[in-house]
Order: sequence, then structure tokens, then C-alpha cells
Amino acid sequence: LVGERSIPYYLGTDCFEEIAAHLHSLETDRFILISDRKVIPRIGESLASALRGYAAVDLLEFPEGENHKTLTYLEKLAETAIWHGATRKSVLVGIGGGLVGNVTGLLAALLFRGVRFVHVPTTLLAMHDSVTSLKQAVNCGNVKNVIGAYYAPEMILADTGVLETLPLRHWRAGAVELAKNALILGNDFHELLPPLLRDIESRSSSLGRQMVKLGVRAKAGLLHTDPTEKSGAIIFEYGHTVGHALELESEGALTHGEAVAWGMLCAAEISHKLGYLSEAARQAHWDLLRLTGTLEMLPSWMDPGRIMTRIYHDNKRGACSHELSDIPMVLLQGIGVPVMGPATMLVLAPDEIVHSAISAVLHSCESVPCGQA
Ligand SMILES: NC(=O)c1ccc[n+]([C@@H]2O[C@H](COP(=O)([O-])OP(=O)(O)OC[C@H]3O[C@@H](n4cnc5c(N)ncnc54)[C@H](O)[C@@H]3O)[C@@H](O)[C@H]2O)c1
Repeated sequence: LVGERSIPYYLGTDCFEEIAAHLHSLETDRFILISDRKVIPRIGESLASALRGYAAVDLLEFPEGENHKTLTYLEKLAETAIWHGATRKSVLVGIGGGLVGNVTGLLAALLFRGVRFVHVPTTLLAMHDSVTSLKQAVNCGNVKNVIGAYYAPEMILADTGVLETLPLRHWRAGAVELAKNALILGNDFHELLPPLLRDIESRSSSLGRQMVKLGVRAKAGLLHTDPTEKSGAIIFEYGHTVGHALELESEGALTHGEAVAWGMLCAAEISHKLGYLSEAARQAHWDLLRLTGTLEMLPSWMDPGRIMTRIYHDNKRGACSHELSDIPMVLLQGIGVPVMGPATMLVLAPDEIVHSAISAVLHSCESVPCGQA
């Protein structure tokens, strides 16, 4: 349940036929499948073949990479869908990682002021994290996810069998959002995760299934009461204020998950500097995130000043009243214990503290600098 709405999530392994059958159950004139270059030959083409005969089918390619997650490329996609004959009755199906899912969801929200869409996530991150959120968005003006809408899929259909072709680096990136859930929620999420992370190199579909179930369970409770992630569920933004800035500043060198891992270390450093977080809890961040394997490369080439410029445009600005020099962000005072701001979980951190925390983390000597590994 996300808010009042019940969104069916079907999770299986090697369940291609079932995915096709669930899609067949939707009455439509046309399926518009949206995927990317790597996923089309793996699952896009076979799903397109399985759907032909039930309705018209188009298989559209969206270019990979955050730099394409923009209104310009969304418009090109919309033009192609309309040119192919999309109608109000058509169903969009996003088959891919979080990027394809976000773009498909936003196009569905906008096309004819709203058509049905289905998520078929194919990365670990998308299966347990991005598809469970109603946030659909693209980047604009060098700011992450700033043009978007809240829009719900008809259903989510995930096959953990497809994770066997997902590169280890993207498994690790997906594990970071699980580490985030463990840090912000604590409890059994913090206890269950380390053994799963130690097994990550197996990249097995059964490990994927356990991770996806853990992630969906973590998100479901809060999204039920706060579907637009403005009050309690804003806690899932932990690490994302600095993380999003690092992701864009890296121009593709860091995955979303890697950037958020560094973003959480910066958030822990800020919480520590402001006197909220103990040294032990700060260290616990490093210990857990090191287990994800995403801290091997230290993005020490990045300029904290340029990162700050991006942070001043973060999409949480103005969510609560603050001075220009304050950065609204989620902070922790312990594992599983957020700091409460005046109205929400957004706390105002002075920009000079944020700047110095970023410098401290990016110039820590605990990892190998990028380019020297
Ligand atoms: N809406 C939300 O709440 C939310 C939450 C988290 C992340 N996001 C967004 O999600 C995006 C990151 O998602 P991601 O980490 O899934 O990255 P991604 O979508 O960029 O995919 C990563 C790579 O994996 C490839 N790939 C996908 N499935 C594969 C498979 N089964 N086998 C082999 N290769 C495969 C893709 O082609 C791509 O090259 C970012 O744009 C981020 O902003 C959104």
C-alpha cells in the first residue's frame, strides 16, 4: 500500500512467463515498452514478442546515463510514442534500472495527462528502491530530479533471475540504498544486512530476492502513511543532498549508489560536527558502507566548492523555512534515530559545516583515490 493506493508487486525468479501473463491481463490497444541498449537484448525483445498478438507493441530505446535523464530526451521519447500511435488506452512498460523507471513513470504521468504504466525493474536498486516510490522525475539545470510528478504504476513485476547479468558494481550500488535503510531505521534492518553484503560477490538470484524483500519491507511502512515522502518518509533522502550533487558533479564517474554512499558519510560527518552523532555511530557508517564495496574509489578529485554550488539548488530547498546559507537535510543522532527539525525531519545545517564536512570526507585517507587504483 502506498497511501490509499494498493500497488501489486509480483516478485519471482526466472518468471518471464508470469510477467508476460500479468501484462496480458491489462486491457490495452498498445504496449509501449521503454528500455535501454543493454536491457533490450536481455529481456526487452523477448517481452515484446510475448506481448505481440495481445495488442500492438512498440519497443523504444532510451539512452543510458544520467546526462540523458532530461526533458529534451523525455520529449523525444514522447514524440516517438505519439508517432507510433499511443492513445489514452495504451500502457507504458519501463524495463530497466531506476533511470528507465523514472523516465517511463514521468512520461506516463504527462502523456494525455496520465496513462497507465508498469514497472519491470532489472537492477537491484530499482527492484527494492526506486520502483517502490511514486517519485517520477528527470534532471534539469544540472539539478537532480527537479522536474517530476508523483505517479503510481499499475503494478510492479520483478524477476530476480535477470540480476545474474547485472555487473557487480551495480549490485554494490543497489546495496547502498539497503545500507541507508539500515542506518536510518536500525532494528533488524541493521542486523540482517551485513551477512547479505558479505555474500554480494555471488550475485545469485536468491541473494537478490532476499535483498529486494528487505528493501521493500523497509520502505512499505513509511510510504503507506506518507506516499509523497514529505514528512516521515523524507528520511529516505538520507545521504541524497550531498549524494545527488556528487553524482552530477562526477559526470558519470560515480553511480547513484556510490554517490549516495559518500553522501551518507558526509551526512554522518555533519551530524557529528553539529554534536548530534557519536564517534561510534559515525564509525558505524564507515563500517557498514565499506561492506557494500562502494568506497574503494575515493572521489578526492572533486572540488567541495563546486559540490556546494550544486547543493544550494537541491530539490529539498524551501521545503521548510530557512536562510539562504542553511542546507535542509536529513541527519541522524544515532543508528535508526533521525534528528527532528522544527516541523519535519529536515534539519538546517549551516553551509560552512556542510562544506568542511565534505572536504573532510573527500580528503580522508581511508580509500584509494579515484584514478590511482
Ligand atoms: N524515484 C526514486 O525514488 C529513485 C530512487 C533511487 C534512485 N532513483 C534513480 O535511479 C537511477 C539509478 O538507477 P540504477 O542504479 O538502477 O541505474 P541505471 O538505471 O542507470 O542502470 C544501471 C546500468 O545497468 C544496466 N542494466 C540494467 N539492468 C541490467 C541487467 N539486468 N543486466 C545487465 N545490465 C543491466 C543499465 O543498462 C545501466 O547501464 C538514478 O537516475 C536515480 O536518480 C530514483
